[in-house]
Amino acid sequence: MGPPRSTFDKLISPIVHLSSNWVSRIGVILVTSAVVFWIFLFPTSVRGAGAHPYLGILEFLIVPSVFFAGLGVIPIGMWLRVRSEKKSGAAPSGKGRAELRHLLIFVGITTVVNLILGSLFTYQAVGYMDGVAFCGETCHKVMHPEFAAYQNSPHSRVECVACHIGPGASWFVKSKLSGVGQLFAVTFNTYPRPIPTPVRNLRPARETCEACHWPQKFGEDRLRVISNYGDDEKNPLTRTVLLMRVGGIHAAHLGPGVTIHYSPSDESRQTIPRVEYQNSVTGRQAVFVAADAKPDALNKLPTRQMDCMDCHNRPTHTLELPERAVNKALALGAISPSLPFVKKRSVELLKKSYASQEEAARKIPAALQQLYRDSPPADVARAAQALVAIYSRNVFPEMKVTWGTYPNNVGHTDFPGCFRCHDDNHVAADGKKIVQECNTCHQLLTMDDPAPKILTELGLQ
Ligand code: HEC
Ligand code: HEC
Ligand code: HEC
Ligand code: HEC
Ligand code: HEC
Repeated sequence: MGPPRSTFDKLISPIVHLSSNWVSRIGVILVTSAVVFWIFLFPTSVRGAGAHPYLGILEFLIVPSVFFAGLGVIPIGMWLRVRSEKKSGAAPSGKGRAELRHLLIFVGITTVVNLILGSLFTYQAVGYMDGVAFCGETCHKVMHPEFAAYQNSPHSRVECVACHIGPGASWFVKSKLSGVGQLFAVTFNTYPRPIPTPVRNLRPARETCEACHWPQKFGEDRLRVISNYGDDEKNPLTRTVLLMRVGGIHAAHLGPGVTIHYSPSDESRQTIPRVEYQNSVTGRQAVFVAADAKPDALNKLPTRQMDCMDCHNRPTHTLELPERAVNKALALGAISPSLPFVKKRSVELLKKSYASQEEAARKIPAALQQLYRDSPPADVARAAQALVAIYSRNVFPEMKVTWGTYPNNVGHTDFPGCFRCHDDNHVAADGKKIVQECNTCHQLLTMDDPAPKILTELGLQ
């Protein structure tokens, strides 16, 4: 008989003994790794809540999974050991303290290794996932259309998370939870193509957009010159000049005291049978209902408060239509207007269906060369390059995104836009309508004009 057995010998020693096997050790490695990585990740989520959603997935999903997997593996190893010892009839060895020492040394070494790996890893991961490249490219091949359009927008220097998450902890967590769902959708290839718009549960725009766009400054009138090249041989240029009443437009929907609620009858919010207007400053209230709407159907519709996104729904994922994109390329000189019928033919080539962007990048230049054998080869090559660029930032066959898939709500010529409500068909009880009068939103200074006098007067030509 040896010395009296201490608590250590009675309780801890058998556990230590049973867990000194390779399966349990792997569990120990997983548990210590998870703890160390979590310690490294923790400050990043405290510092920049909202800054990197996918680091959050690592922190809240992957690291805890590893931790609990490790916890699960340790008893499995112990159980296997019990079984094998029962079989072989081997008695517990009684080297309790030596085994504990081995275990502690083992944990110590794993921790040191983890500290080194962890510090290297988090340093790089933070920098990497912080970046727009991660959101738009790596994880989100799925978001290729959004990323491509984004790069070609006034917000190309604004991080994705500035609009999609914004500051503060609660939206950080909400977006992370939906991020987890999205991660699975991408992993198991179950995501919808195209990604549906609008984004449901997007944070209210006024909390995100107004972080940068000063809400009190609603903007001044702004001159818009829209160039259009015709379909004739000479690609004749005409211009439309609008004076946009930006300040008035903003004040009418979001000015002091104004709240507008509306009820869309379709997922993409393109049909709006009911609009409710309230102004707490003037006391005016009105409910405008589309003349053809059925009253009992109206009551079942969801209601949404109008904010920036209801007009600026594509502030950065501004996909173009082929005519407009070609007009822009012609105006910039990327396509030479001296090529006969180049406007018409370019649009036709862009609208054809191609199996992939790669196919378009082969077939469009080949077709142009065929059409313009007698034109300066440099012009043709440049036009080809411009068209391939237009195609590849707007059409994504693998995501089923093509011309016009995503409507843009600013305007009324390409999509319903402002005329979803301002269609002269939404009437209030007192007979008043939501106005459609042409000079309410802009002054139409000239339209499709080959030589706009107004531009000469302003010294713009
Ligand atoms: C200037 C603000 C802003 C920035 C920056 C931004 N987005 Fe968006 N994003 C939006 C808005 C607004 C919508 C449409 C919301 C709606 O209609 O409900 C949207 C929609 C989306 C959608 C849904 C599909 C669609 O096209 O409507 C995806 C996916 C998306 N964005 C990804 C990204 C990625 C990736 C980045 C960074 C490369 C990014 N966004 C940067 C504002 C932004
Ligand atoms: C992180 C800052 C930031 C956030 C957040 C942001 N923007 Fe912007 N926005 C900018 C910058 C910078 C410009 C470019 C100004 C320029 O080029 O003169 C811009 C330009 C714009 C323009 C003018 C584009 C044009 O054609 O001139 C619109 C419209 C706009 N933003 C709407 C929005 C909306 C809507 C949101 C919210 C979904 C938003 N912005 C969120 C920084 C931001
Ligand atoms: C009722 C629709 C509507 C709403 C709501 C709306 N805007 Fe606008 N906004 C417009 C229109 C139209 C223009 C002018 C576009 C143009 O000139 O082509 C514009 C222009 C702008 C510009 C460019 C201004 C300039 O002077 O160049 C910015 C920035 C902008 N809006 C930000 C916002 C922000 C931020 C919100 C939310 C607080 C918002 N808008 C809400 C319709 C709207
Ligand atoms: C969801 C419905 C809705 C949409 C979409 C909408 N508006 Fe409005 N708009 C209203 C309502 C409601 C009023 C207030 C009507 C009233 O007071 O009688 C209004 C008023 C206005 C006014 C002031 C009219 C006046 O009599 O002074 C302007 C300007 C305006 N809107 C411009 C726009 C522009 C530009 C767009 C598109 C970018 C747009 N609106 C999109 C609902 C909408
Ligand atoms: C509710 C506000 C509103 C009303 C009413 C309105 N427009 Fe517009 N219109 C806009 C906005 C916003 C744009 C887009 C400006 C831009 O491209 O940013 C636009 C653009 C245009 C354009 C330029 C189209 C192009 O090629 O880009 C023309 C032309 C035009 N409007 C004509 C009209 C005519 C004609 C009427 C009267 C039937 C009218 N608008 C009524 C808001 C309005």
